[in-house]
Amino acid sequence: MSTKAANTVAPMCDYPINDQAPTSNQDVTRWVERIARLCGPDRIHWVDGSQEENDALFKMMVARGHCIKLNEEKRPNSYLFRSDPRDVARVESRTFICSVSRDDAGPTNNWMAPEEMKTKINAIAKGCMKGRTMYVIPFSMGPIGSPISKIGVEITDSPYVVVNMRIMTRVSGKIWEVLGDSRDYVRCVHSVGKPIHTPEDDVPWPCDPANTYITHFPEEKTILSIGSGYGGNALLGKKCFALRIASTIARDEEWLAEHMLILGVKNPAGEKTYVTAAFPSACGKTNFAMLIPPKELKDEGWEVSCIGDDIAWIKPGPDGKLRAINPEAGFFGVAPGTSAGTNPMAMESCSKDTIFTNVALTDDGDVWWEGIDGETPAHLIDWKGNEWTPETKDANGKPVLAAHPNSRFTAPARNCPIMDPEWENPAGVEVGAMVFGGRRMTTIPLVFQSFNWQHGVYLGATVGSEQTAAAEGKVGSMRRDPFAMLPFCGYHMGDYFRHWLKMGKTVNEPPRIFHVNWFRKTEEGKWLWPGFGENARVLKWIVQRVNGGAHASETALGWMPRYEDLDWSGLEFSREDWDELMKIDNETLLVQTLGHEELFLKLWDHMPKELLWQRDLLISRY
Ligand code: GTP
Ligand code: SPV
Ligand code: MN
Repeated sequence: MSTKAANTVAPMCDYPINDQAPTSNQDVTRWVERIARLCGPDRIHWVDGSQEENDALFKMMVARGHCIKLNEEKRPNSYLFRSDPRDVARVESRTFICSVSRDDAGPTNNWMAPEEMKTKINAIAKGCMKGRTMYVIPFSMGPIGSPISKIGVEITDSPYVVVNMRIMTRVSGKIWEVLGDSRDYVRCVHSVGKPIHTPEDDVPWPCDPANTYITHFPEEKTILSIGSGYGGNALLGKKCFALRIASTIARDEEWLAEHMLILGVKNPAGEKTYVTAAFPSACGKTNFAMLIPPKELKDEGWEVSCIGDDIAWIKPGPDGKLRAINPEAGFFGVAPGTSAGTNPMAMESCSKDTIFTNVALTDDGDVWWEGIDGETPAHLIDWKGNEWTPETKDANGKPVLAAHPNSRFTAPARNCPIMDPEWENPAGVEVGAMVFGGRRMTTIPLVFQSFNWQHGVYLGATVGSEQTAAAEGKVGSMRRDPFAMLPFCGYHMGDYFRHWLKMGKTVNEPPRIFHVNWFRKTEEGKWLWPGFGENARVLKWIVQRVNGGAHASETALGWMPRYEDLDWSGLEFSREDWDELMKIDNETLLVQTLGHEELFLKLWDHMPKELLWQRDLLISRY
């Protein structure tokens, strides 16, 4: 780098940022300049979100072998990317909340002092964008200009991130006008980490697992992410901003930023009830969010519409009731298991204009994954780019999956035929019910309702779920995942519980709270509940409960439907199976409270006493 004369008044810049910048916001241009000087990209590209720009990026990525254009007839305007096999999911062990005080991050987050983390990252980031273009992406979480929306700017050296962000968020040059000279935006810096020195370094999926850090600075509304190009590690508007940073803003401003889907249910009288639901990663949010009720329920006049499948920002409206918006504009959905049978609306959503990551490629240039409709093809290229047949085995003789279990589609929400007419309403929709759930093979019945808000918060706080492939870790092991937010809460979990308890008091008519479990199995390992579209039967009961129209019996866990309280038209489901599905075994449940206790002890010095009382009430009911 050339040395500048010491007496230069304004610092000279190696990058003609102020000539190119589409904004005169000096907070932005200075920050971009600072990051450019640190990371040393070959050039800077201010993203405008236009179609031409998007087309050019794909053209460039196809030409460089970073992705494959899929068959235009079968999958119009769609592309397939294959990641480095070491970079396939969120990395929670390398995700940090760098609040000034360690106590603010709490024991469930990794923490490092902000200055220490910045020093560490700056050392890794020095020159990390060499050979690459640095993109500056202005984006809005929520409809552009809405009072509930928030602006972010992501700097990245990954064109894959640019094209994904364009689907998942609202990317547009208009953001600069809305932002004006304000400093109220979330600063997101991302790099894949490994610079290009020689043409051989220009690999299709650069990453640096040994030096991966996903870090959040809540006090500065800043995110620094380096070393991974995958999903929640790299699309910084999603988990990093809309959950980890937003949860700290929500705490301060008295609203909720949640790992929740939002759906609408219309009853035969035409009345709409909106429901939000929090399930841990890969536990059924996308499926539930766009569920198609069984024919018999549709014929009765029940209809489900989708607002969002992963994140909800929920705020008290002018009438004091909670209103929810989906801050995203697309779905980053799990591919395996998605089919016309399980989730036809997701299949429709990814039928065009979609980016696929780590699924298999068919001989005719389409995509394939385990659980998709139709026969298994005789030949595929698997997610690692290898030849694959149904007989392919690994070194240990085990069948090889063609698609990675956490392979995903990035599809625009506008492609989903059942988007709710209100899905882009800047004022959001009124929340009637909130649902919590996890993946529980035993112990937890299909559905029950909390006695009240505080009991509902206890249900959220004690959600347990078996580990999935959405993050590193042993798949199948049980962990507590309070509010499905364990990996996504940007502050102390105990304070977060307290915030939820407080919200119940500040709103008028808080939503009713429910708990569901689609995943209970028989001792032989068979699903006890058909799930997917059939979940509409549970949803109908929930909505009827909200509107004062269905029976429930009091149990130790909460209010539970009897067999005759669910609509069984069109489904053969025996009373015996129902009893098995809804069985509550006091002994087992009692033991389970020890699991709750383990989490509570971890959080003890921030634990709201209301939840300890809830635990005692629960035990006293067994
Ligand atoms: P993230 O995007 O990771 O936050 O996950 P998600 O909660 O949106 O998960 P998704 O809806 O994609 O569900 C993923 C897995 O759950 C798939 O393997 C589905 O087949 C399975 N699944 C979803 N709904 C049901 C259900 O009702 N019953 C059963 N048995 N499995 C389900
Ligand atoms: C999740 O893991 O909960 C996701 C996918 O929704 S990611 O965007 O990678 O976080
Ligand atoms: Mn998620």
